[in-house]
Amino acid sequence: MSETRNANGKATPETARLILEGREYELPVVRGTEGEKAVDISSLRRTTGYITLDKGYENTGSCRSSVTFIDGEKGILRYRGYPIDELAAKSTFTEVAYLLLYGELPTTIQLEEFSTFLNESSLIHEDMLHFFVGFPRGSHPMGILATTVASLSTFYPVPEVMDEKAERQILANLISQVRTIAAISYKKSIGEPIVYPSYKLRYVPNFLTMMFSSPVKESDLDDDIVQAIDLFLILHADHEQNCSTSTVRLTGSSLANVYAVISAGISALWGPRHGGANQEVIRMLEKIRDEHGDGTEYVRRAKDRNAPDRLMGFGHRVYKNFDPRAKILKEACHKLLKKPGMIDPLFDIALRLEDIALHDEYFVSRNLYPNVDFYSGLILRAAGIPYDMFTVLFAIGRTPGWLAHWREMYHGEDFRIMRPRQIYTGSTCRTYVDRSRRR
Ligand code: SDX
Repeated sequence: MSETRNANGKATPETARLILEGREYELPVVRGTEGEKAVDISSLRRTTGYITLDKGYENTGSCRSSVTFIDGEKGILRYRGYPIDELAAKSTFTEVAYLLLYGELPTTIQLEEFSTFLNESSLIHEDMLHFFVGFPRGSHPMGILATTVASLSTFYPVPEVMDEKAERQILANLISQVRTIAAISYKKSIGEPIVYPSYKLRYVPNFLTMMFSSPVKESDLDDDIVQAIDLFLILHADHEQNCSTSTVRLTGSSLANVYAVISAGISALWGPRHGGANQEVIRMLEKIRDEHGDGTEYVRRAKDRNAPDRLMGFGHRVYKNFDPRAKILKEACHKLLKKPGMIDPLFDIALRLEDIALHDEYFVSRNLYPNVDFYSGLILRAAGIPYDMFTVLFAIGRTPGWLAHWREMYHGEDFRIMRPRQIYTGSTCRTYVDRSRRR
């Protein structure tokens, strides 16, 4: 609850006044640790009979959270108070996953134990391998991931009452096995034998080895690629109440099991407006390349509301300034793509497209800047990740964030089922008409 001082300097609860049909109501004002302000409308319907309406929840806070802070105007992103550029430069994905889940950076021993625990939890049940035979050839790996993650609950039933040990195991299963499932779906798609995770390798090297090594080919782990993928996962690890995280909170609020909850998050992320954009950005860059264009024609189409094209990887519901993750990924592309054999003409097209858009009144006036997806696909392309797995990599990165929000809600004192209201616009009451009398 926020406080203000009255004329005599006495602290009084800060309130907002609402006048409805001639009556005045006072609603409490809530302030966050970074000064964000909200009018708490929890009592609104009970005291006034009114609800609020807010398309896309653009102005609605669903919860109090201490996991991630974003300032969209200033382009600020912090996980548990740590700025994203510091974590990107100094941390690792495993350490960031621990930070998001438990709120503090781990000690060396804690990190070692957590990393080993993730490795020990990276095998999926052998009977699950039969699923992969059943999926039709060419199945999108996000469909395979969402389905297989939901099925984990049949192999690892979630106890009614989860003690701390059971919860830790489920969190480790999910963070570790989304990576294993992704690699298996890739190997199955190319008809190669699966490669099991190794206890000797850490998170990202294990993933890349499961993806690209084979009985006849050693996976040469290029350090720069390992670093770039680790950075990709750090930057995708959380982003407060985005569409898929809100889906996780909503699904988890019914006490659905955690595997089903994360499967719901994966499904929400799949959409091209959300996590599916990274794959669409590369398609867009290839289209411009194949049209031998410089991007101006594509940008023209992206501005035309009647044309289906949009500038993928541009715009954001919260960032009305540069997405700090896009800046970090752009620098990572500059570094990675100048390596011999890594040069990618799509990067030059992306740089030109960004320059055109950032000098175009349509984008500038709407505060449309590159978001996390604009450059991320180029990193994955350089690593040899197939396009249809780009959003899968996003999901692997976002899993610790989804779980951090689920944990915060599950252990929170105001943990209730989420059930928004509506304004009904359908038919008013009418009498049933017998079929014989219908026209
Ligand atoms: C992610 O929420 C998160 O935090 C998400 C995320 C995370 O980490 O979880 O950051 C990850 O999802 C990033 C966003 C990835 N999506 C894309 O890159 C797809 C392209 N972007 C757009 O679809 C759009 O910008 C959204 C969906 C990202 C945001 O949409 P909004 O906030 O609903 O904005 P809007 O559709 O109301 O657009 C406002 C105006 C409209 O024009 P006018 O009605 O004013 O004429 O801007 C235009 C839009 O037509 N516009 C675009 C555009 N994005 C918005 N025009 C062309 N190209 C675009 N990309």
